[in-house]
Amino acid sequence: MQDVTDLPFMRVIARRGAPDWFVTEYFRVHPDSVLNRYIVRSIKENETGRPIFAQMIGRDIPSLLRTAKELEKLPIAGIDLNLGCPAPIVCRKDAGGGLLRNPGYVDQLLGSLREAIPGRFTVKTRLGYTGTEEFYGLLEIFKKHGIDGLTIHGRTVVERYQTPVHPHFVKTAVNEMKCPVIANGNVVDVETGLNYLQATNAAGLMVGRGAIRNPWIFAQLEAAFGNTVPHTPSYRDLWNYVTELYEEIARETNKLVPLAHVQRMKKTLAYITHGLEGDFEFEMRRAKTPEDFHRICKTHLDREGTLPAKPPVDSKLFCGFETLARNEIS
Ligand SMILES: Cc1cc2nc3c(=O)[nH]c(=O)nc-3n(C[C@H](O)[C@H](O)[C@H](O)COP(=O)(O)O)c2cc1C
Repeated sequence: MQDVTDLPFMRVIARRGAPDWFVTEYFRVHPDSVLNRYIVRSIKENETGRPIFAQMIGRDIPSLLRTAKELEKLPIAGIDLNLGCPAPIVCRKDAGGGLLRNPGYVDQLLGSLREAIPGRFTVKTRLGYTGTEEFYGLLEIFKKHGIDGLTIHGRTVVERYQTPVHPHFVKTAVNEMKCPVIANGNVVDVETGLNYLQATNAAGLMVGRGAIRNPWIFAQLEAAFGNTVPHTPSYRDLWNYVTELYEEIARETNKLVPLAHVQRMKKTLAYITHGLEGDFEFEMRRAKTPEDFHRICKTHLDREGTLPAKPPVDSKLFCGFETLARNEIS
């Protein structure tokens, strides 16, 4: 995730139970692009013991081929292509999710990349740009190019993050693709993860925002798969996590400006404070200085008590997760 899945974040997450693999923030690719050095560090200095895929976003085929070649020199598990980013600035340039408006071009792009990448080549997609019915045509293209993995964020681009996911289409891909298919979108806890897997038969789950909110989610899912007792984190565990994240990110920041660091941390904290009882979310939005930040965390998190497993019902940030929790398949 952009501005999230960097070296310090992976380090802090891994201490609480790492996922089977990571995917980098995306490398922006265009005719003048050079590899972003900060993202390269998350590959070269990855100390989590878990493999990492390098993700590219872009539309210019020669530039993508050149970048893939450069990435292959790094210690990566494979190269992933982003066909899902809904950000208007990305889609306007016909990159990310914007590419899904032009399946013919996606076909050409995947053909070129598949031919040029000798190692693992995977794709991260949405179900279509405007409508879910577009997925069937896209699936034929994904099948054609012998990709090594397909991660599906089960929404269209225009649905952004605002609707429930549609597991039915992920299941169709699982049935038709030869490679592993990974289900993504709205996994916020063990229950939503298990239900998504059950609804789709997917080979695995990709967890994004749910892992920012609950860094124990990978260990908890593994415990559920192995029928062992999962860790139930307390408010104080969350306090330790937030403090560690604050310090690790500060440690990796060139020319640390304390007030700017607090603003940067507040973006991540938005996923963490969301829906916790009391005024934590409200107060954190107003934090300005490191002293404010740490005082607010201490006030709300320095206590025993089990954290709620799920975000609040009708959550705007984790919109639509309830249908996975209720096991409603669409
Ligand atoms: C802040 C943020 C940054 C993201 N950056 C990326 C990215 O760089 N590459 C990518 O494939 N998806 C990115 N995504 C999308 C997530 O990977 C994921 O598909 C989406 O959030 C739905 O899954 P979730 O409900 O588990 O978060 C990003 C999402 C967020 C919220």
